[in-house]
Formats: sequence, structure tokens, C-alpha cells
Amino acid sequence: MLKIGVIGCGGMGKDHIRRVTNKIQGAEVVAVSDVFEESAKAAAEICGAKVYTDANALIDDPEVEAVMIVSPGFAHVDSLLKAVEAGKRVFCEKPLCTTAADCLKVVKAEEEAGKHLIQVGFMRRYDKGYQQVKEALDSGNFGEALMLHCTHRNPEVGTNYNTPMAVHDTAIHEIDVLHWLVDDEYESAQVIMPRVTKYSHSELKDPQIMLLRTKKGVCIDVEVFVNCKFGYDINCEVVCEDGAIKMPQPMYPDVRKSAAVSTTIDTDCFVRFKDAYDTEIQAWVDDAASGVINGPTAWDGYLASVTADALVKAQETGAIEKIETAIEKPAFYC
Ligand SMILES: NC(=O)c1ccc[n+]([C@@H]2O[C@H](COP(=O)([O-])OP(=O)(O)OC[C@H]3O[C@@H](n4cnc5c(N)ncnc54)[C@H](O)[C@@H]3O)[C@@H](O)[C@H]2O)c1
Repeated sequence: MLKIGVIGCGGMGKDHIRRVTNKIQGAEVVAVSDVFEESAKAAAEICGAKVYTDANALIDDPEVEAVMIVSPGFAHVDSLLKAVEAGKRVFCEKPLCTTAADCLKVVKAEEEAGKHLIQVGFMRRYDKGYQQVKEALDSGNFGEALMLHCTHRNPEVGTNYNTPMAVHDTAIHEIDVLHWLVDDEYESAQVIMPRVTKYSHSELKDPQIMLLRTKKGVCIDVEVFVNCKFGYDINCEVVCEDGAIKMPQPMYPDVRKSAAVSTTIDTDCFVRFKDAYDTEIQAWVDDAASGVINGPTAWDGYLASVTADALVKAQETGAIEKIETAIEKPAFYC
């Protein structure tokens, strides 16, 4: 039984505590921490765990074998470095850290520790649909991937959501899953701003078309449209040399009524990717037995951060921006 300590008991933290307690085999939550004691206590009631208000004290608890970091992004770096120093296995919700410099610090710390400890919470890699696309690509039956056409549409967002958040909070999932799909890294980014929807506001350009080019020359377009009004609509089509692969949509029945045929589109990510979240955590727990990380690594977290920075710059300049890592991918992550 893997004994887990959870840092951060907000919406996502409680979600993971419920998941580990009710669904995941081979793990239990033995400690929780939150800067607000009341939040930690409320979360502890779900699983009967010890309560901490200091994340470092939770990491140092000898009963805690593995740590889930579900605090806000800005707080991740301190807990990551502390957990690596303690040699504890980590599941860190995305983003790894909020700056590329901090991500690099974490990458270097893990490499120096010489042990793969960190998995980043990019759950789309565990979605059945993306996995089927990946299997088809890896089969070789379709030749090389040439282009990807993707959409990330949300019905609506709050009024505090602004233009850079379209990268950091929304496209960040495509940034991770798409380079994994085509087994490549990014070279450049550009953002095209179409006419703005009437449902947007002065601080948000919506929709946006984000263009990414990989080192092998694969061209990716992602339509990010966060006030599309009609649903949480995630699409991905890979055009290859010998065919095209379109990601399947979640299965809902076709309904015939009033002289029309219709089907359901999900309205949020927690429903659309609910199975992916479960599969992701089960895989992280299962991999603990052999001490490996098969999911997104700290290096993937760093790449996502560098790519996000280039996209945000491209939002401002309208130019094609280079995506450059400060160091070559260490052999440790190959
Ligand atoms: N993978 C996904 O699809 C997905 C979805 C939602 C959120 N997330 C990620 O999960 C993380 C948490 O998001 P959330 O929506 O639960 O946020 P939230 O604001 O609801 O919860 C964060 C909690 O962390 C606590 N906290 C703040 N600083 C802390 C610290 N230093 N140590 C311990 N606790 C601290 C806060 O008091 C709060 O209870 C973020 O990194 C977010 O990006 C991922």
C-alpha cells in the first residue's frame, strides 16, 4: 500500500484525495496539508488522514512514502525541491512551476538526485482517445505525421480570465499532449488573433489560433476558444503521409427528437477527462512498485513552460517566436 501525503486541499486536491480513497488500488492518503488548517481538516475527513499546515513537515513525515502536490502553481517549486531532497516520489499537478527558471531548477535537482521521482499531472496522455491516436501513429501504418488540427473550446470563462491564460490555463494541455503524440519537441510558436467574440472583454482576445512547429517540421494549429458557448469541445486530427487519424469523441447516443438528430458534448474537463484522471493516478501508483516514472516527467514540465512562454510572447508580438530550452535534454530524461 503506497502511503501518500497530499499538499493543497482545494478543489483538485480534494478530488485526488477522493480518487485515491475511493477508486485507486494499492494506495491510501495518510497525511494532508494546507496553509489553511480548516481546508486541511475538511479534506482529512474524506480519508481519515493526519493534518499539517506546513508542507515541509508533511514531506518529512516518515510515514509518507509519496507526495501529491496540488497547491497553486506558484507554491510547487518549494515542495518539489524539498520532496526530491527527501527522495520521495512525487505527483505534481500541472504546471510543474510557474517559471521556466524554476522548472529548470527542479530538473537539475532531480538529475543530481539520480533517481526518477517526479510525474507532472498532464492527464491527457491517459485519455483513451489520445492513446488510440498514439497507437495508430506508432503502428507506422499511416506514415509520418505532417500536420495536426486541434480545438480546445470551453463554453465560457470567468471575467478574470485574460489573454495569457489562454496559454497557461488552457492550451497548456495541448502543449504537453501533442508533442508526446508525435514524439517530437517544439521549435517555434505563433499566435493569430481572429475577430473577437462579443462574449469576450477588453483583457481577453478570444478566440485565438495557436501555431506550433516541431523540430521535425510537423505543423500544429490549435483553436483556443474559451467562450464558444456550446460545450467543452476537444478535437485532434493528425494528417499523415498515408492517411489521417481523428481522435474519437466520448460515446453518447444519437438522439432523435423533433425532426432532428443530436448527441451530447461535455461541458467541462472534469467530465470529459474523468477516466483519464483515474487512469493517470492508478498508473503513477502502480509504477511506484518498480520505482519508474512512465508519465510526463519534470523535463516535460520544463518544455511546457518554455513553450508557454514563447506562445505568450507570440500573442504580444504577432511574430514567429523561437522555442529554445536553456540546456539540451539531459540523457537522464532520454
Ligand atoms: N490537471 C488538471 O486538469 C487540473 C485541473 C484543475 C487544477 N489543476 C491544478 O491543480 C493545482 C491546484 O488547483 P485547484 O484548482 O485545486 O486550486 P485551489 O485554489 O482550489 O486549491 C489550492 C489549495 O492549496 C492551498 N495552498 C496554497 N498554498 C499552499 C502551500 N504553500 N502549501 C499547501 N497548500 C497551499 C490553498 O489554501 C488551497 O486550499 C494547480 O496547480 C492547478 O493548475 C489541474
